[in-house]
Amino acid sequence: MMLGKHLASRVGAVVLGGLLLSFFPGCGGSPPATFRLNMEGRSPDQFSAEQKQLVVDILTAAFGTPDDPYIFPETGLDLEKLRIAAGPTYSEAEGVRHGLFRQHCAHCHGVTGDGAGPTAAFLNPYPRDFRKGVFKFTSTGPGAKPTTDDLKKTLRNGIQGTAMPSFVLLPEAEIEALVEYVKYLSIRGQVEASLFLYLENEEDLPESRDALLDEVLLVSNQWRDAESQIVVPDLKALPPRDSSEELAASIERGRALFRDAKTAQCIKCHGPTGLGDGNDEGDLFDDWNKEKDPAHPELWALPKQKLRPRNLRLGIYRGGRAPADIYRRIFAGIKGTPMPAAGKVLKPNQIWDLVNYVLQLPYEPSPNRPEETTKLTRARL
Ligand code: HEC
Ligand code: HEC
Repeated sequence: MMLGKHLASRVGAVVLGGLLLSFFPGCGGSPPATFRLNMEGRSPDQFSAEQKQLVVDILTAAFGTPDDPYIFPETGLDLEKLRIAAGPTYSEAEGVRHGLFRQHCAHCHGVTGDGAGPTAAFLNPYPRDFRKGVFKFTSTGPGAKPTTDDLKKTLRNGIQGTAMPSFVLLPEAEIEALVEYVKYLSIRGQVEASLFLYLENEEDLPESRDALLDEVLLVSNQWRDAESQIVVPDLKALPPRDSSEELAASIERGRALFRDAKTAQCIKCHGPTGLGDGNDEGDLFDDWNKEKDPAHPELWALPKQKLRPRNLRLGIYRGGRAPADIYRRIFAGIKGTPMPAAGKVLKPNQIWDLVNYVLQLPYEPSPNRPEETTKLTRARL
């Protein structure tokens, strides 16, 4: 193997550590945690045992293990923070707590960040699989990673209407360590995917330090660039709302746009009155589920799960309820889902009209009332 000196010594240390532990069974309790190889959607014999071991060795060289993480300093990620979030749970004498990810997150998101921890199968939606590198609720444009602040916000607020809890009680330093660890697991997952791509294309794997560093930077630079891809809602385009008439007029323009099947197309999925009943076939999936082949459930950690367009009358906004949050959702869409980015087809003032309409929907008389429902059904027939 052409691994550089540093890499070779890391691989060596890991192998040695494993050997030592196997000589002293019972010493230190359970065996050290390992990252799960991402074989989802692949038949077990697609790659030889040697090929899989090579992927494991390269990933271990670049990222270490769940108990002893590593990251190239060139990525700008902070290894000290990773060390606090990683590993088994314990407290230093000075009170610094370690093992935060395993304590707070792994039972849902899995030790590997594959979104398939022991609790995951009972949840809808499933916990995020970080390995794809796609995050739904960000302040950034289409295709961009979340910013550090986006992830902090997700951790502090949780994701309303889902099992993702709020960690607002954790000290800032612990939130920052966890955010760094989410980035690390996500970068690791994407690099793993590109290693498998090399194998599929029958190309040589990047084994020297330089080649591997390039591979890691391809992903970690996207994280660094996120900070410059924030969508800034255009405040100059805010429709006048000094009087209730002006606000009502904006809401009515929003309502018309929402139902306009040509431009905004919201009606297609969310239905004519925002109940989330527009997608008649009911066959929407997010990117984590759409790849799953129902004929081969054994190739996936979790069964295929459908995605419902949101019922906008419930007033539950996973990405935040502030007008600027809704603006960004409409402008950039929800990444990894069919909810489209409308920023290119709609003007900022039109997006604000939609924001005003969406935000007042929960306060409108419900079409669920029997007399309204009859009218609605008739209208739909
Ligand atoms: C009880 C289960 C559970 C626990 C515990 C949990 N999560 Fe989640 N998490 C979820 C679910 C479910 C989602 C997906 C929500 C969705 O898709 O709308 C999620 C989504 C996320 C996302 C993705 C946000 C996005 O924009 O796509 C991040 C990041 C995240 N969790 C981080 C964490 C971290 C860090 C911890 C530990 C401090 C944690 N979660 C603990 C269930 C959990
Ligand atoms: C192709 C289907 C589709 C279209 C078209 C669509 N949406 Fe969505 N929308 C969804 C889905 C699916 C979700 C839920 C995604 C998730 O949480 O994973 C969603 C969620 C939302 C949310 C909730 C955001 C949050 O933070 O929870 C809002 C608001 C929204 N859509 C507004 C709109 C508006 C306004 C339009 C038209 C400009 C629109 N949608 C067009 C499918 C669609």
